[in-house]
Amino acid sequence: MTLSARDVSWGTSGRMIVGGVTLEAAPGKILGLIGPNGSGKSSLLRLLCRLRKVSSGVVELDGRDIGQVSRRELARRLAFVEQQATTEIQLCVCDVVRLGRTPHRSALASWSAADEQAVDAALARVGMSERHDQLWHTLSGGERQRVHIARALAQTPSELILDEPTNHLDIQHQLSILTLVRRLGVTCIVALHDLNLAALFCDEIALLHEGRLVASGTPETVLTEETIRRVFGVAVRIGATASGRRHIEYLVDPDCYGEAAP
Ligand SMILES: Nc1ncnc2c1ncn2[C@@H]1O[C@H](COP(=O)(O)OP(=O)(O)OP(=O)(O)O)[C@@H](O)[C@H]1O
Ligand SMILES: [Mg+2]
Repeated sequence: MTLSARDVSWGTSGRMIVGGVTLEAAPGKILGLIGPNGSGKSSLLRLLCRLRKVSSGVVELDGRDIGQVSRRELARRLAFVEQQATTEIQLCVCDVVRLGRTPHRSALASWSAADEQAVDAALARVGMSERHDQLWHTLSGGERQRVHIARALAQTPSELILDEPTNHLDIQHQLSILTLVRRLGVTCIVALHDLNLAALFCDEIALLHEGRLVASGTPETVLTEETIRRVFGVAVRIGATASGRRHIEYLVDPDCYGEAAP
């Protein structure tokens, strides 16, 4: 169960947005995708789940060109939670999550108890069971995000692609969603802005800068003071958490930030 990109590029209007990226998500592991705004994270994720066609290179699912995988098989295997997902406003929470079951049902099959169980289990896992019947457009930003994650879970994917899933979430829900993803044991590629969360939850990290992969490997290899300063333009000190993970301290004086280059 692996998803990989080999020398993948994509651009538009003559501009290279993703340039020659090679990476692989190890089965059952979490690969974190980090990089500054506009570095190409969302564009790369869209290529990985075939929402966009590569200009060159190849995306492979278990060694097969993803372009050759049937739409139905892809929808059964791979779930994607977008950075700014929108949903029809007249739906209620359970309807949104039910959409995740679509690839598992044949056109004529009626809604089954197993489908309903998958929906209920997914809502429970993101702590949204009590909002089952609430209208989508009345949810808060963080609640919407959790419902979209529930939709992806109801899909029971073997590959999960998440674009900033912690967006809008309070700290407790950020931690619980990432813990949940770890426990799922599915192959996951997740774009994150919070470097400490990436260090805490990801098995491997890929760092994008201006569309190119500039570092990849374990959090210990990628998250160095020099690399963070060079790519993000921020001075940091690297320490360790109690569990031995990397901890990034930002060396910022809030009263004079921006007056001197880091
Ligand atoms: N369809 C498009 N047409 C033109 N430019 C695009 C298109 N899609 C992406 N871009 C540009 O490509 C660059 C990368 O965008 P992308 O959304 O992949 O960045 P990102 O790393 O996800 O950023 P963020 O951290 O802000 O989410 C941006 O400069 C964006 O404006
Ligand atoms: Mg993005």
